[in-house]
Amino acid sequence: MGVLNGKVAIVTGAGQGVGRCHAELLAAEGAAVVVNDLGESADEVAASIVAAGGRCVAQRGSVTDWSAAQALVQRAIDEFGDLDILVNNAGFIRDGMSFSMEEQQFDSVVGVHLKGHFAPAHFAAVHWRNVAKEMGEGAVLPARRIIMTTSESGLFGGPAQSNYGSAKGGILTMTLVLARELSRYNVTVNCIAPRARTPMTQVNPKFAQPSEGFDKYDPANISPMVAFLASDAAGDINAQTFIVLGDQVHRMRPTEIANSISGGGQKWTVEGLIAAKDEMFGGMPSGIPVWGGPPM
Ligand SMILES: NC(=O)c1ccc[n+]([C@@H]2O[C@H](COP(=O)([O-])OP(=O)(O)OC[C@H]3O[C@@H](n4cnc5c(N)ncnc54)[C@H](O)[C@@H]3O)[C@@H](O)[C@H]2O)c1
Repeated sequence: MGVLNGKVAIVTGAGQGVGRCHAELLAAEGAAVVVNDLGESADEVAASIVAAGGRCVAQRGSVTDWSAAQALVQRAIDEFGDLDILVNNAGFIRDGMSFSMEEQQFDSVVGVHLKGHFAPAHFAAVHWRNVAKEMGEGAVLPARRIIMTTSESGLFGGPAQSNYGSAKGGILTMTLVLARELSRYNVTVNCIAPRARTPMTQVNPKFAQPSEGFDKYDPANISPMVAFLASDAAGDINAQTFIVLGDQVHRMRPTEIANSISGGGQKWTVEGLIAAKDEMFGGMPSGIPVWGGPPM
């Protein structure tokens, strides 16, 4: 018996990598899981989860396709009776410097991450609002969860990733928007930035599996945080972001005003802003912020 007994989950992009590990752990923790991916990898993962004793079905389809996203949410409801947990994970990278980036490179990456996170969340939200309406005012609504996937590139701005980094940054904002909108339906929306060895990252030798000792970049290291955020124990955690890697969980500080200056009831002049520059920064650096992620 696990912490997710009786829950129904969708994991997008779960045919390999981090998403596959999420699907396997959510199923092992008792959730019925809909594994989404573009092709037959979804069927393979679902079959292996079923073979291990889990409840699981595959639903092929692109998260960027509005009607496929609707069908994905509907599949969870048809197959398992409801939807409690949506793990938005699907994505890919197509890196290029800003001066080399081509239109298709930009559009496809922004599409898979931004629209690909929003479309399933939209249809999940439609379902959860409908359930709330049916249950009526004052009813205790079931706890629902959305777990989003950003990246350190989205948090800190990775070079050669103006497509990926800005889409992942948008996912941080989308997390806040969805959390504010959906908390009335007992939905929490949190976000992880994973770092793990997957087909997406394995070209980098720093992610290689060590010959002995703790395998820091095993993608399975990420999934306990997802299962925790999906569980009833995390009901008071909302609109938060965590970098997750190896044995580490780094909770990010929410964006906040760093320092303020006022024109004293008057419109600022350019000369006034020049004169107030030091006060505006209050002794803090005014250049490109240092990369804030944990070291490799
Ligand atoms: N691996 C890392 O270190 C790392 C770091 C930061 C962020 N991430 C993010 O974590 C998530 C998972 O990454 P991963 O490393 O496991 O990558 P991965 O390439 O191993 O897996 C991504 C999966 O998403 C699927 N996918 C791609 N487009 C899709 C679409 N339109 N519809 C449905 N499925 C689609 C792919 O087929 C693949 O199975 C991604 O959002 C990625 O940006 C990963």
